[in-house]
Amino acid sequence: MEQVVRDLVALTGFSAQDSQILRENAAHLQQWTDELTKVFYDTLYAYPRTAQVFVDGERPHREITLHDWYLEVISGQIKPEFWQRQWFVGLMHIKRGVDNQFLFGILSRVQLFFMDKCYQDFDPVKATRVFVAFKRMTDVIAGLIVESYRQQYLHAVERASGINQALIHRMAVVETVRMIVEIRGEEQGSSS
Ligand code: HEM
Repeated sequence: MEQVVRDLVALTGFSAQDSQILRENAAHLQQWTDELTKVFYDTLYAYPRTAQVFVDGERPHREITLHDWYLEVISGQIKPEFWQRQWFVGLMHIKRGVDNQFLFGILSRVQLFFMDKCYQDFDPVKATRVFVAFKRMTDVIAGLIVESYRQQYLHAVERASGINQALIHRMAVVETVRMIVEIRGEEQGSSS
């Protein structure tokens, strides 16, 4: 997990300054929690493929989860357990059948909701700074969730099948090259 955090931080440019901006504005950003939670679940419950992930009576529990997640994100207090908690979300999502396109779809909505709020409440320079801090932070989180999902999936297949991950990876590459050849033709497939 640590390497995945380092990769995401390096490539997004997420920094201590972003955490600080969130921390300094946390009291204000907290005011958006209920509205953000409502947008999040209204969207997921309105779309049949995401609505079917949830069981009857679950919404209040999920709202609390998201509420707490948002408050922790905007607190800008990043302890090692913080990244560990984001990593764990990927495992819960596998368990509950939350596909990664659902994650990215709703993340986009969360980020744009947050952006609108920033430009409504702050002057444009500050709005950009706060939004960028939140965007980098939540992009790192999404990357962690998606990668934990992928790694855990492989790990689970390794444990259940007894085939080690290096071999699973090799089989995936061989099969994929075969498929590329089918799709694009022999010459291109074998040259890439
Ligand atoms: C920005 C996107 C998302 C974030 C930040 C997020 C965050 C979380 C968090 C913090 C947890 C709790 C993990 C734990 O128990 O420690 C969780 C679990 C869960 N999430 Fe997500 N989630 C996202 C997207 C989604 C989407 C798109 C769905 C449904 C389509 C979904 C459905 C669930 C479900 C069903 C659980 C498991 C609850 C349980 O069984 O305890 N999440 N998520």
